[in-house]
Amino acid sequence: MMGLLNTTFTLGLCRSFTLLINCQRRITMQIVQLSSGYDMPVVGLGTWQAKSEEIENVITTALNTGYRHFDTAFNYNNEEAIGRSLKKWFDQGGNRKDLFITTKLPNFGNRPSDVEKFINLSLQRLGLDYVDLYLVHMPFSFIQDQNSFAPATNTDGTITLDLKSDPVAVWKEMEHQVKKGLTRSIGLSNFNESQIQNIINNSEIKPSNIQVELHAYMQQQSLKQFCQMHEIYITGYSPIGSPAAKQHFQTKYNYTLQTFPDLLGHSVVKKIAKNHNKTTAQILLRHAIQGGITVIPKSSNPDRIKSNIDIFDFTLTNDEMGQLNNLDQGEDGRIFDFLFFNGVANHPHYPFNVQMKKSVIST
Ligand SMILES: NC(=O)c1ccc[n+]([C@@H]2O[C@H](COP(=O)([O-])OP(=O)(O)OC[C@H]3O[C@@H](n4cnc5c(N)ncnc54)[C@H](OP(=O)(O)O)[C@@H]3O)[C@@H](O)[C@H]2O)c1
Repeated sequence: MMGLLNTTFTLGLCRSFTLLINCQRRITMQIVQLSSGYDMPVVGLGTWQAKSEEIENVITTALNTGYRHFDTAFNYNNEEAIGRSLKKWFDQGGNRKDLFITTKLPNFGNRPSDVEKFINLSLQRLGLDYVDLYLVHMPFSFIQDQNSFAPATNTDGTITLDLKSDPVAVWKEMEHQVKKGLTRSIGLSNFNESQIQNIINNSEIKPSNIQVELHAYMQQQSLKQFCQMHEIYITGYSPIGSPAAKQHFQTKYNYTLQTFPDLLGHSVVKKIAKNHNKTTAQILLRHAIQGGITVIPKSSNPDRIKSNIDIFDFTLTNDEMGQLNNLDQGEDGRIFDFLFFNGVANHPHYPFNVQMKKSVIST
């Protein structure tokens, strides 16, 4: 049984509340109010690469540990398993209104005629009537393979790009989904500033959230200022540096970055962790939320799930924040350039200004 004990205002627009779990354990969580008017917990559970055989237990552990915010995507192929865990939780008295569920329009469904089809498929898989946040996963579009939920490929191995899809027309359909009640808020992911501006200029409902890669090596300073101006909350993905992505890129795409970050082992992060008797992951997550970002660390390990949300009982000093801010490498810190989608850089809506120099596709 869960109960909301109290709510207090702490960090400006950020509020904190205490959850009582199983009538005994108290968990503190902070929430922010999106421009849509809905609340979003500042820590959510990421689920990319959470294996389908483990995801039901993972979600149950997370719910029992105080997570109320879950991030998935049509592409992660785990919405059905997440839906099964949520159903169990509802059957035991859990309240839908206490949850914040995000999912995303896939890159191969990134055209106006497919938006409603894909949000309905996600809702069906999740067993929900609405999601809290629906994001356009990527600004570029691929043609869908005729026989599967995957991008089509050309005979030379490159992905078949959809050069006709118009992000503004897709956004209009996203707005329709809000009006139909299928999602409460809408937003973008992996769009750059001028692409977001283009959506804002042509929108009736502004994006209330943008999900981008954000961690100590890539702190998105310019985007932060831009989003503050436009009242868009940033959710940082790969907030602890996505340690498993390296192997995934190699295995699935035969693709690698020339250097892969090891944020969890960084000496500055380790020293600050020792000062607070916290793990390096907790320091990285605290750094992001103290900087006004919501985070969605992924873990399938019960102890790490629990510790990743246990970051509300300490504060980093200004000096420590400064030391962590100094780790920023800007664009050079990027892990997810998406160049593993062979040929994507030729898409007119490819968002990043990166050269192949960082990335090597082995043949
Ligand atoms: N919008 C997008 O395009 C996009 C792209 C990437 C990711 N995302 C979202 O963002 C979420 C998070 O990003 P991510 O999965 O790339 O990276 P991440 O959360 O930075 O890192 C997850 C990895 O770190 C390990 N880990 C978690 N907590 C740990 C801890 N306390 N100590 C040591 N290792 C720990 C996990 O392994 P264990 O599971 O074994 O703990 C997992 O391998 C994703 O799951 C997904 O929901 C979105």
